[in-house]
Amino acid sequence: MQTNNQRRQFLKQISSLAMGGVVLNALSGCSTGLHSYLVASSGGAISLNLNEYPELGQIGGAIEIEFNGEPGELVIVRISESSVVALSSTCTHLGCTVRKEPSFFRCPCHGSTYDLEGNVVRGPAEQSLERYPARMSNEQIIISLRNEQR
Ligand code: FES
Repeated sequence: MQTNNQRRQFLKQISSLAMGGVVLNALSGCSTGLHSYLVASSGGAISLNLNEYPELGQIGGAIEIEFNGEPGELVIVRISESSVVALSSTCTHLGCTVRKEPSFFRCPCHGSTYDLEGNVVRGPAEQSLERYPARMSNEQIIISLRNEQR
């Protein structure tokens, strides 16, 4: 027969294991698989010179941007000749980092899939990846760090 103390100890251990599982789960999916660049933000925006990021030279190409000491915060994807999208790499299901595949993003934790514009293609995620305003003009990409409502 278990005492209250034994029961409490058992519940504490179970709780620690569950927390560890969540942390391990999150750590297992912590890379987008993309080339990562460290970029300084200024006035709530990031400015990129297209010529310095060869991965964005072709449609479907993408890079990861680190800024203000927060790695993997944004993924930039070239979606057409004249446009890019800026997305959070954090899965909207339970927060793992999504991984870039040739034509979509996939979450390694539970398999959610998003198209290159961040829209959910397959759950369990129900919401699109967070999207940030991005525009491309001439050879310049400007990303606002205010996220868009979707
Ligand atoms: Fe991405 Fe669950 S955390 S599918």
